[in-house]
Amino acid sequence: MRLTGESLSLSPAVRSTIRIDELNPEERAVYATLKPEHLPQHVAIIMDGNGRWAGRRSLKRFVGHQQGAQAVQWVTETAARIGLPWLTLYAFSLENNLRRPRAEVNFLMRLLKTYLDNNLARMRDNNIRFRYIGRTHELPAEVQDRMRWVEEETSRNTGTTLTLALNYGARSELVDAFRGLMAEIEQKHLSPDHITEADIHRHLYTAHMPDPDLLIRTSGEQRISNFLLWQIAYTEIFVTERYWPDFRGIHLLEAIADFQRRERRYGGIGESCGEVEEDPDRIRIAVS
Ligand code: FPP
Repeated sequence: MRLTGESLSLSPAVRSTIRIDELNPEERAVYATLKPEHLPQHVAIIMDGNGRWAGRRSLKRFVGHQQGAQAVQWVTETAARIGLPWLTLYAFSLENNLRRPRAEVNFLMRLLKTYLDNNLARMRDNNIRFRYIGRTHELPAEVQDRMRWVEEETSRNTGTTLTLALNYGARSELVDAFRGLMAEIEQKHLSPDHITEADIHRHLYTAHMPDPDLLIRTSGEQRISNFLLWQIAYTEIFVTERYWPDFRGIHLLEAIADFQRRERRYGGIGESCGEVEEDPDRIRIAVS
C-alpha cells in the first residue's frame, strides 16, 4: 500500500492541530508559497554533518551532536505547526553503533536520554506523538526505559508522529521482516508463491505509516546510507549542503517547496513527457 501526499488529504485530527500563526515571519513567507493540499504526508531526514559542523568551528564533535539535538526540536516543531503527519529522523544507525568510538556512542545515548527528558513537555504542547524504529532492544536499558515512557506519554497526541530511527539499518530491517514473514508462513502453512509486496510491507518496522514522499539529506553527501531502502522506492530526494546543526524549520519548508515543483510519475508518464502515440504498431523501429 502506498499513500502519497498527492492522493491523501490531511486527516481532520492532523488538520485541527495546524498552527500557521506560530511560524516565524520567514517561515510564514515560504509557507505562503506552498500548496497546503499537496503537502507531503511523510518526510524522512538523514541528519548528517554534526562532526563537520563542529570541526569547522574547532569544536569537539559532541558539541555538534548537542546542536544537532536542538535542531531536531526546532524542525519537529515547525513540522507540527504545518500539520505534517509523519516525520522520520535517522538519529543513530546500526553502523554508528558498531563503528564509532565507544565514548561517542555513550555520549549519543546520554544525549538521547536527556533530549527525551527535557523535551517531553514541548512535545505535549505541540501535540507530537513519539515512535521508534530499529533494533531498539539492543540499546542500553535506561535509554529504552526513557523511550518507552515518552512513547506512552505522547501516545494519545494526534498531531505529527515523530519517529526516531535508532540502532536502525534498512538491511537488518529487511532481515527482521523476512524472519517475521517466514514464521507466519510456517505457522499458517502458506505457500511462498503467494507472497506479495504487501506481505513484506506488513512485516517492516514502518508497517503503520505511509512511505516517505520526501527524503532530505543534509551535509551534501549523495548517499542513502542504509536508510529505509524498501520504503523510498518512489521517494523524492532533496540534498542540501547545509550541516544538520544549521538546519531549521525554514529549510524544511524550502525542501517541501522544491518537492511541490516536481512531477511524480511512479514509473508512469507525466504531463511533460511528450504526446502518446495513438497507434504504436505503425511506427517503424529505427535502431541499428
Ligand atoms: C551525523 O553526524 C549524525 C549522527 C551520527 C546522528 C544524529 C544525531 C543527532 C542529530 C543528535 C542526537 C539526536 C537526538 C534525537 C537527540 P556525523 O557525526 O556523522 O557528522 P560528520 O559526518 O560530519 O562526522
